[in-house]
Amino acid sequence: MPHPPRILMCPPDYYGIQYEINPWMSRRRPSDPESAARQWQALRGLIEGAGAAVACLDPVPGLPDMVFTANAAMIFSDQAILSRFRHPQRQGEEPHFQRWLSENGFQVERLAEDLFFEGAGDALFCGDTLFAGYRIRSDARAYEAVGDLLACRVIPLELVQKHFYHLDTCFCPLEPGRAIYYPPAFDHYGRHVLGELVPELIPVSDDEARHFACNAVVIGRTVVTNTGCPELHGKLRSLGFNPVETPLSEFLRAGGAAKCLTLRLDGEDAAAWKTSGMSPLPPGEG
Ligand code: ARG
Repeated sequence: MPHPPRILMCPPDYYGIQYEINPWMSRRRPSDPESAARQWQALRGLIEGAGAAVACLDPVPGLPDMVFTANAAMIFSDQAILSRFRHPQRQGEEPHFQRWLSENGFQVERLAEDLFFEGAGDALFCGDTLFAGYRIRSDARAYEAVGDLLACRVIPLELVQKHFYHLDTCFCPLEPGRAIYYPPAFDHYGRHVLGELVPELIPVSDDEARHFACNAVVIGRTVVTNTGCPELHGKLRSLGFNPVETPLSEFLRAGGAAKCLTLRLDGEDAAAWKTSGMSPLPPGEG
């Protein structure tokens, strides 16, 4: 039996809008803690319902964005390339993510101190290629180091719209050769290489992109998104996927949705390396 998908999440106990580091965030639009907790639990329930095992990281007071575990690191087999956050407000999360990952069987790699890199928020495999968003958060130069570490093809994609500041807000691999994307978030070159390397690209509308349609959690054929993405859901159904929606409005206030709240520990379904037998065993079974 293959191991179930494994996903890292962090409960929103200390989540809130305490600073503004992207255009979605405003301290004048705080989140409601109880509603955030309900939305987070519902997301977790759907993820478990889709067959994944959820591991939880202890939240830390004073680190409100730690709920966004996609930004902890980028996972490649048993290697975790730890993030180096651009904004000082999030840098305090790094040692907590580092500890959890190394205690849970990952070999944690760190990039040079002067390279910003925000993990699976910006670096996503589709097939055997790592697509890597840069400029707003991660540095293009960080990807040279990532490519060297992993010995894989890395395609840097410049992110040109400030609302779509992480790659996972505008691009979501579904399986090798197929992904969801929001074309205006990329420049001409980015759209061109995506078109060349990912034969089936599913575009989302402006409105659904603003509902974080691209920020989806993919578990087999199940695709979990925020509410308000009916057009995308229709397209996914016609391709044989099972799209599921759940309200994540409290997390949109911080500029995040379903995908941002998760880190796939055994590798995304769309990552070709998963099927080459390199996937690590779950903790305790190594
Ligand atoms: N407030 C967080 C930030 O600006 C949101 C992070 C969302 N994460 C993501 N993977 N897109 O860093």
